[in-house]
Amino acid sequence: MNEVTALLKKHTSIRKFTGQPVTDEQLHAIVESAQCASTSSNVQAYSIIRVADEHMKQQLSVLSGNYSYVLECPVFLVWCADLFRLHQAHALHEDAEPAYIGTTEHLIVATVDTALAAQNAAIAAESMGLGIVYIGGIRNHIAEVAKLLQLPKYVYPVFGMCLGYPDQQPGLRPRLPLAAVLHENTYDPERMTRPMEEYDRIIQQYITKRTGGKKTSTWSEDMTAKLKTPARLHMKSFLELQGFGTE
Ligand SMILES: Cc1cc2nc3c(=O)[nH]c(=O)nc-3n(C[C@H](O)[C@H](O)[C@H](O)COP(=O)(O)O)c2cc1C
Repeated sequence: MNEVTALLKKHTSIRKFTGQPVTDEQLHAIVESAQCASTSSNVQAYSIIRVADEHMKQQLSVLSGNYSYVLECPVFLVWCADLFRLHQAHALHEDAEPAYIGTTEHLIVATVDTALAAQNAAIAAESMGLGIVYIGGIRNHIAEVAKLLQLPKYVYPVFGMCLGYPDQQPGLRPRLPLAAVLHENTYDPERMTRPMEEYDRIIQQYITKRTGGKKTSTWSEDMTAKLKTPARLHMKSFLELQGFGTE
């Protein structure tokens, strides 16, 4: 294991932060690291909004599901998939609207670009001793979030990210065994059953301990419950309104 893989293997989401500020210098180094991520055809289809305004943080915290850590973290970033910049680049050369902008393919490109950049930022932050947690909760009321952030057409908020110095040391959350996720040559549905059962036992022990026995469910039980629960069904119509998913 080298230093980088050792750092990656230490990752755990942080949801409680000390009051120690994150400097602009640190934030800029983090965002510059994000910008070094691979990007589809160099489109760099993302924008990052730092929300420092206390009232806006408060609103985002409520809209995300009343997470105290959204309000209390020293830095809150909203990671947006952004095709608006491409729209503006096109406008430098053509008077007409672009023929193909918000296609499903471009939606995927922009979302993947955003996630790759954000994960680079997460690693850069963790390498400085900071902690992070992603906030998918900002999609709970995505239209209100987009309005608050004044997002133009062709931009949507993919997730938020809290950043700061950790004020907790949560144990590492075990991941699926390698055999459940790594296939050879072709997809083999058979190979995941046993590792999944093994994982159920591991995660059940972990979650029972972490919650002091309040939660004792296995991973497969959690996933079963997830697939019975409607989640953010507004996403399709919201994305269409923002100009995405046209074909
Ligand atoms: C895209 C994304 C969205 C997430 N949204 C939330 C969230 O809204 N609230 C939260 O507390 N954690 C959120 N998380 C953190 C996950 O719950 C966490 O990464 C996962 O349980 C694994 O735990 P670990 O990061 O501590 O290893 C999110 C993670 C990702 C990647």
